[in-house]
Amino acid sequence: MEIFHCLYSNLLAASMFFVAVSAVDIYSEALLGLKSELIDNHESLSDWSVPSGVNPSGKIYACSWSGVTCDVNSTSIIGLDLSMRNLGGSMSLKQFNAFTELVDLNLSYNSFSGQLPLGIFNLTNLRSLDISRNNFSGHFPGGASRLRNLVVLDGFSNSFSGPLPVQLSQLENLKVLNLAGSYFKGPIPSQYGSFKSLEFLHLAGNFLSGSLPSEMGKLKTITHMEIGYNSYQGGIPWQLGNMSKLQYLDIAGANLSGSIPKELSNLTKLESLFLFRNQLTGFIPEDFGLIVSLSSLDLSDNLISGPIPASFSELKNLRLMSLMYNNMNGMVPQGIAELPSLETLLIWNNYFSGMLPENLGRNSNLKWVDVSTNNFIGKIPPDICSRGVLYKLILFSNNFTGDLSPSLSNCSSIVRLRLEDNSFSGEIPLKFSHLPDITYVDLSRNQFTGGIPTDLSQAYKLQYFNISGNPELGGVIPAKTWNLPLLQNFSASSCGISGTLPPFQVCKSIYVIELSMNNLFGALPISISKCQTLESITLANNNLSGHIPEELASLPALGVIDLSQNRFSGPIPTKFRYSSSLQLLNVSFNDISGSIPSEKFFRTMGSSAFTGNPKLCGSPLQSCSGSMAIFGSKATGKLIWVVLLCAGVVMFTALSILGIFYFRRGIRDQWKMISYSGLPRFTVNDVLRSFSSTKSLDAIPSMSGSVCKAVLPTGITVSVKKIEWKAKKMEDLSEFITQIGNARHKNLTRLLGLCYNKQMAYLLYDCLPNGSLVERIGMRREWAAKYKIVMGIARGLCFLHHDCYPAIPHGDLKSSNIVFDENMEPHLAEFGFKYLLEGSFPATSSNRETGEFSSATKVELYKDIYSFGEITLEILTNGRLTNAGASIQGKPREVLLTDIYSENEVGSSNSIQEEIKLVLEVAFLCTRSRPYDRPSMEDALKLLSGLKPQIK
Ligand SMILES: *[C@@H]1O[C@H](CO)[C@@H](O)[C@H](O)[C@H]1NC(C)=O
Ligand SMILES: *[C@@H]1O[C@H](CO)[C@@H](O)[C@H](O)[C@H]1NC(C)=O
Ligand SMILES: *[C@@H]1O[C@H](CO)[C@@H](O)[C@H](O)[C@H]1NC(C)=O
Ligand SMILES: *[C@@H]1O[C@H](CO)[C@@H](O)[C@H](O)[C@H]1NC(C)=O
Ligand SMILES: *[C@@H]1O[C@H](CO)[C@@H](O)[C@H](O)[C@H]1NC(C)=O
Repeated sequence: MEIFHCLYSNLLAASMFFVAVSAVDIYSEALLGLKSELIDNHESLSDWSVPSGVNPSGKIYACSWSGVTCDVNSTSIIGLDLSMRNLGGSMSLKQFNAFTELVDLNLSYNSFSGQLPLGIFNLTNLRSLDISRNNFSGHFPGGASRLRNLVVLDGFSNSFSGPLPVQLSQLENLKVLNLAGSYFKGPIPSQYGSFKSLEFLHLAGNFLSGSLPSEMGKLKTITHMEIGYNSYQGGIPWQLGNMSKLQYLDIAGANLSGSIPKELSNLTKLESLFLFRNQLTGFIPEDFGLIVSLSSLDLSDNLISGPIPASFSELKNLRLMSLMYNNMNGMVPQGIAELPSLETLLIWNNYFSGMLPENLGRNSNLKWVDVSTNNFIGKIPPDICSRGVLYKLILFSNNFTGDLSPSLSNCSSIVRLRLEDNSFSGEIPLKFSHLPDITYVDLSRNQFTGGIPTDLSQAYKLQYFNISGNPELGGVIPAKTWNLPLLQNFSASSCGISGTLPPFQVCKSIYVIELSMNNLFGALPISISKCQTLESITLANNNLSGHIPEELASLPALGVIDLSQNRFSGPIPTKFRYSSSLQLLNVSFNDISGSIPSEKFFRTMGSSAFTGNPKLCGSPLQSCSGSMAIFGSKATGKLIWVVLLCAGVVMFTALSILGIFYFRRGIRDQWKMISYSGLPRFTVNDVLRSFSSTKSLDAIPSMSGSVCKAVLPTGITVSVKKIEWKAKKMEDLSEFITQIGNARHKNLTRLLGLCYNKQMAYLLYDCLPNGSLVERIGMRREWAAKYKIVMGIARGLCFLHHDCYPAIPHGDLKSSNIVFDENMEPHLAEFGFKYLLEGSFPATSSNRETGEFSSATKVELYKDIYSFGEITLEILTNGRLTNAGASIQGKPREVLLTDIYSENEVGSSNSIQEEIKLVLEVAFLCTRSRPYDRPSMEDALKLLSGLKPQIK
């Protein structure tokens, strides 16, 4: 056996020697040389080997290898396709001198890194060169002009830096040039106007700057040009109007200013024009109606003024018209209603006025209409849904009037309906049993009458229903409302609703119930115990009576219970002591008796949560044993608080403090306070005063996001951040802040409230006692503790990405933004704050309406995932590897793992080693260079928990 084995290996060695020396043609040899340079962990080139014992016949072995294409006689290699093979490493390509006949070279979808090998430019027969989706870096080397036959150069998504390669413009045959998604800097060279045959140019998503060269107007052959997501200076050169073949022009997100040149109207082949997210001013050129081929027009998020040109009625192919977020005004031309192809009409956040065109919807297959936040009046056009495909109708914050029939009575295609904050009246003609897909209905703040439609309980997909603020509505809460399987939010405050609360037979997914200021009577049904997901229930200002059901105390997520101003009696159930989720129990102005549980969190709710119950005692109200004690022996400071906390006095004191404040500061805009549900109530003045007692307001520098701690009269310490805001974005800003304020999760710090005037805002956050990760990263810690931190961060981030709607990107995830509570549970701090500072909001109404992430939000989410990967590495290595996402990608994992095992003192414990390996693997995935290769946070969390991801 032994001898045989030995003999065999000698033979093997001999045959290999033979092959290497005499049998291999130069091409196959060169490819084997190339293979030896590459990192091929998946052995995708395993068939690249020379069969032993076969004699050469002038043919090239390699012709049968995967990815290799030869000419008909197998005498030369003309194509090499190594795409999508998980290959990596940096290539020298010195072997490539053998491949002068090569026509197609495809290296895309791999992880090649380092400089682009110069040898490629020796392949002068190349017609297509695809190096896209790799990690090539450094400057794009000179010499490309030698590829005289090149037709396609695709370098999409790499890490090139430095200037765009000028030489390329000499390639007379080049039709496709894609250098998007790298880090190219500097201006687009004016020489790029001299391409002879170029049809497709994609330079988006680099760091390009400077002004757009007017020479580009000379590109007469080009049909597709995407150069946005860079930061240029100046405006759009009018010469672009000479690019007569252009069908697709995208310069979005590119910092362009000035007005839209009227010459663009000459682009009569143009089908898509995307100029959104710039600073364009002036009017839309009147002649745009000449671009008859136009199908998608997006000029949103600019500073465009003036009306929609009447000539738009000529745009017979227009399907998408997005002008939202501009300063436009005037009426919407009647001609818009005649456009036969129009599907999506987005003109929200402008100053449009008058009535919508009477015929809107009659001639177009309208699917999505958003005209919210304008000054429209009049009725909803009667035919808006007549084609039966309308699924989003968003009209909120206008002054529409009249009733909803007949426009919406039979609109069975509708999915989202937002009519809030208008002057609609009449009965609600919606037959929910005929609206199979409806998920979101907001009719709040109108003048509807006639009650909630009784068949509401048949809207099986309904998730959100809000009718609050229709004071004349009346009626009752339809039976079985709580049975709706997907309903999450039910709001009907201030609706004149009477009757009792229907029993909670099924209550599967409800998390918010708001029914304050109605005429409800009877008891709060104990079947509330079925609402296991309930987070907030507000029943204030009704006539409800009976005891507070102790079942409330065992609901696992319930944080806010407002029962104030009712006729509840009996004690506060003692079970509330053990609630881990409760933040506010407001029972003020009822007939509650007994004592307030002594747990600290009841005290921090403040006395306003308990006042108005003569038979109730205990902190924060007067103590139960003797009501005078507190006035007797305690320090006068305490006395002051007690006095302060009596509502009437607070008003007076507040006013006088405000007076002092104005006196000191000079006249300023009035301060307002928003507090998010669940926090111990406090007022503007509490906050302002807590500053003035420590430092002056100006001591908090603006725009730096620096933190100042302040102690409020209720005794809690908050951290305060100051932002300055511009008048224009204020509305959006407060909308975004509200989203942040409503994001509640045990791995997030809470935004407690917001104190603002027209110039600035102070954001008040929970202040956690145990420092941040950056202070504690070097601490020696058991693996289990580290694992808990990683999981906590992942959970918090996953919540922001997947459970907030719209998703909130964190934007600035780093170890100084991860803070610890008493139990060393990590909380993410400052989520979304970066966007507030910058005044850019990734997740506001625009994308909320689409129901999906906008591409800008996606980019931010992917960045978060990347940061999560880096932080995980940091935790794994006790802070040794920071910002190491890119540098570890090429490294062999075994080496890293050995280091990490020793850093964590794991020894030979197999189960811990396995866990560490898993966590490291997730860090690797999250820091992949191409965003779309990274797992979602949901998948990352599943992976971390040891489950397989379900989607990818
Ligand atoms: C292939 O071989 C045939 C016959 O030997 C010859 O006529 C032809 O030119 C060759 N083609 C190429 C592309 O070399
Ligand atoms: C390169 O390969 C990828 C993946 O197989 C393919 O999608 C792409 O079109 C190829 N590039 C060229 C220029 O043919
Ligand atoms: C390109 O080819 C020339 C001559 O054919 C050779 O001298 C040079 O080294 C080659 N360049 C590279 C980078 O291989
Ligand atoms: C549009 O093109 C026509 C001729 O094709 C030319 O006469 C006219 O000046 C151009 N208009 C603009 C605004 O460039
Ligand atoms: C809305 O329109 C009604 C009459 O159509 C008018 O009385 C009311 O003042 C308007 N409201 C606003 C806020 O413009």
